[in-house]
Amino acid sequence: MAEIILKNLSKRFGTVEVIKSLDLTIADREFFTFVGPSGCGKSTVLNLIAGLEDVTEGTVVFDGKVINELSPGARDVAMVFQSYALYPHMNVFENIAFPLRVRKEKQATITSEVNRIAGLLGIGDQIKKVPRELSGGQRQRVALGRAMIRRPKVFLMDEPLSNLDARLRVGMRTELKKLHRELGITIVYVTHDQEEAMSLSDKVAVLLEGRVEQCAVPIELYERPANIFVAGFMGSPAMNFIKGSVTSEEPFRVGPGRLTVEPKIKISSKRPVGTEVVIGMRPEDVEVSKAPLDGGYEALCDVVEPAGPFQWVEFTPEGLEGKRIKGKAPVEESINPGERVFFSPAWDRVHLFDADNEKRIF
Ligand SMILES: Nc1ncnc2c1ncn2[C@@H]1O[C@H](COP(=O)(O)OP(=O)(O)OP(=O)(O)O)[C@@H](O)[C@H]1O
Ligand SMILES: [Mg+2]
Repeated sequence: MAEIILKNLSKRFGTVEVIKSLDLTIADREFFTFVGPSGCGKSTVLNLIAGLEDVTEGTVVFDGKVINELSPGARDVAMVFQSYALYPHMNVFENIAFPLRVRKEKQATITSEVNRIAGLLGIGDQIKKVPRELSGGQRQRVALGRAMIRRPKVFLMDEPLSNLDARLRVGMRTELKKLHRELGITIVYVTHDQEEAMSLSDKVAVLLEGRVEQCAVPIELYERPANIFVAGFMGSPAMNFIKGSVTSEEPFRVGPGRLTVEPKIKISSKRPVGTEVVIGMRPEDVEVSKAPLDGGYEALCDVVEPAGPFQWVEFTPEGLEGKRIKGKAPVEESINPGERVFFSPAWDRVHLFDADNEKRIF
């Protein structure tokens, strides 16, 4: 069992505080992911858990025991880094086998384990090569294999798929998920890729400048983002945001000018007339068409991006010059830049944020 608790965890480099009193619980056997933009402190958190960096303040707890003072080796964690370090003179087989050699496992066990893992990672035919004869992606898989073979209690992974091409990355995601289920271990994962975070994780912590903006299951982050940052960071293409204000309380209406909407909001969430708000709508919730839509608005098409089974359309709503919004049109619609289009947001899927503190209203 391996439950990890971070209590009031802070890290300073010199005078710069890069991790700011984190409080988190990572459950036993959870696939837990830290996601956030470059420099937000993801690798630092992982290094604090691994023991590769000293904690400035607060505690790291493994299964009820404070382990701040334990060396990395004594923590029973395996780590895969953003930049992998392989032994250059050893071939793939020996690189993966290394942790088992250290443990003095039997040769037969080593051979079968290495072959099984190399096969799982799709490098079974590369086993005799040395690292310099491999592509970046293959090297990364060797590093992954070497960490996997140890079967640690906790697996820490820092962007382990970042050097793989897009197809391989998606394939490896599935493998990692399967692996997590099979091994029944706790995985703490770091990525800047929100899609990777959503597809892999049981739980995700969104980090910004060393603080957790929201920690929740993936669907919650998508359906109920806690603030504008999380709303804009999670989901692709990014959520559209439109500034407006409360124009009427009964019925409750918000909007800028002609784009007034009537969100179905709880009485307790209502705000007085004049309150500045930000309306958020995901591109997948905005229908675009060449023909007028029921309850829709007019706009001018700016850009069309075919996306296989449908197309993304970027447009400027009439009366909101300078504001670009992205929506979704069926692939059959022939829409061109410069043409008049109509759009209709799914109002029951609209998000509303307070413009002052950027927090979710509903
Ligand atoms: N050893 C160090 N000394 C001083 N500052 C550091 C050190 N390590 C990291 N930092 C700073 O701490 C902040 C967080 O860095 P960190 O590597 O944790 O970010 P990250 O979220 O992993 O970014 P990326 O996605 O680019 O890998 C950055 O501003 C970085 O410059
Ligand atoms: Mg990093």
